Amino acid sequence: MKILTNDKKSDLEIVLVFNKKLPKNLTKTQKDALALRDYKGEGVCFIGEQIFIGVDSYNYPFPNALRDAIANAIPTIKKLNIATASICIEDLQSAKEVCEGLFLGDYSFETYKSKKSQSKLKTIYLHSKTIESRALQAVITEVEHICISINAVREIINTPPAIATPEYVANMATKKAKELGITCMVYEQKFLEKEKMGAFLAVAKASSNAPYLVHLTYKPKNASGKKIPKIALVGKGLTYDSGGLSLKPGDYMTTMKADKSGACAVLGILEAVARLELNAEVHGILGLAENMIGGNAYKPDDILIARNKKSIEVRNTDAEGRLVLADCLSYASDLKPDFLLDIATLTGACVVALGDYSIGVMGYNAKLAESFNKIAFSAGELSATLPFNPYLRKLFNSDVADLCNIPSSRYGSAISAGMFLGEFVAQELQQKWLHLDIAGPAYVEKAWGVNPFGATGASVRSIVEFIKHKIKD
Ligand code: BES
Ligand code: ZN
Ligand code: ZN
Repeated sequence: MKILTNDKKSDLEIVLVFNKKLPKNLTKTQKDALALRDYKGEGVCFIGEQIFIGVDSYNYPFPNALRDAIANAIPTIKKLNIATASICIEDLQSAKEVCEGLFLGDYSFETYKSKKSQSKLKTIYLHSKTIESRALQAVITEVEHICISINAVREIINTPPAIATPEYVANMATKKAKELGITCMVYEQKFLEKEKMGAFLAVAKASSNAPYLVHLTYKPKNASGKKIPKIALVGKGLTYDSGGLSLKPGDYMTTMKADKSGACAVLGILEAVARLELNAEVHGILGLAENMIGGNAYKPDDILIARNKKSIEVRNTDAEGRLVLADCLSYASDLKPDFLLDIATLTGACVVALGDYSIGVMGYNAKLAESFNKIAFSAGELSATLPFNPYLRKLFNSDVADLCNIPSSRYGSAISAGMFLGEFVAQELQQKWLHLDIAGPAYVEKAWGVNPFGATGASVRSIVEFIKHKIKD
């Protein structure tokens, strides 16, 4: 689907209905047609060459009414025998939201379907009485860059685990980096051994698919000499999480191809940042491995030595993400970034706490977490802070090592997992670090908002916006 700015005559006019208030300038025929269908401004109603889309109103802060309304209407519009549709926009913010609803709501994972869905709809025209067409075009282009990146992330995450192995994701990163002109280093197992990444290596041991650490670097081409922010992003890239010897029950194992969502999001953020040519230095570190079972699998009772020399008692091999991230966070700390963010489908507990729709935001800098939440909200993603406290920190003390990979209580374990990660962030970066748990929103089995079935690309929009803010600050 293409979005263009012009006011050419289209096959279908999309009319937005806010707060159930139908437009005043309707003709008698239109009014009669709507009355006949008993349309009062909720949901979608189709009359002649017009489709009315009701935008829900809420009496609490919610960023996505317009995005969701547009995304929800897409299937209906695509079924019509039309090639073009047009929509009139009042302001730049609505333009952005409409474009996001269209680009993100239009994705579907059909690579393995013999029969692909077909639609004649090719182009949506955006026009406005109040906005200059150049400004409108700029918004469309920006949203398109971000959404192309998000849909690419979704496609990799949705790819089945037999294909999307650590090597596949690493190759994908190499290919993308080449296209985008950014640096991509792919490090193999030997490098992990040299770096003494004992935690990461243990997780990967039982898989016949070798682990990789990918380090992407984006630097703006015409750096102005002015200091630019340096941001390091670390992504959990478990291309499959069977749980390892602490094997997951069958029901919980399905969808675990999506345990690579953090790493894929990081790849997508680098793609978006490069496409937008943002004025920041951005590093993406992808910890890619598969958590499997086998004769040489790591075991509950093992004691691992992480890159930063801390010893970790393993009590549950299903708490593997934090082990991979531990070594990646230590590696990323050496880059001395201004901000360090990790993105991970880390805990089921985060989903229990916040629901399927929100990102859990954690860290030692409450102000930074709050500012992230505001930015995420403006970008159309839901998030909430889960606050650290010293009682939860104590829960992963070990009798035989420096730390234990699971806490002694399952209550609050999204937070204790976050605090575990903090042990591997360099001291001087503690205030510059945020942990984002995307276990809830990364993958959906029932479409919601702008997210069709499958991977969503959660956190990409928020973090791109976060980077943009750090450039301005
Ligand atoms: N990848 C899972 C977390 C997860 C759960 C992601 C549901 C997406 C949806 C993670 O590796 C895991 O298994 N965590 C365990 C930790 C426990 C063993 C302390 C969990 O959340 O149950
Ligand atoms: Zn696990
Ligand atoms: Zn996992």
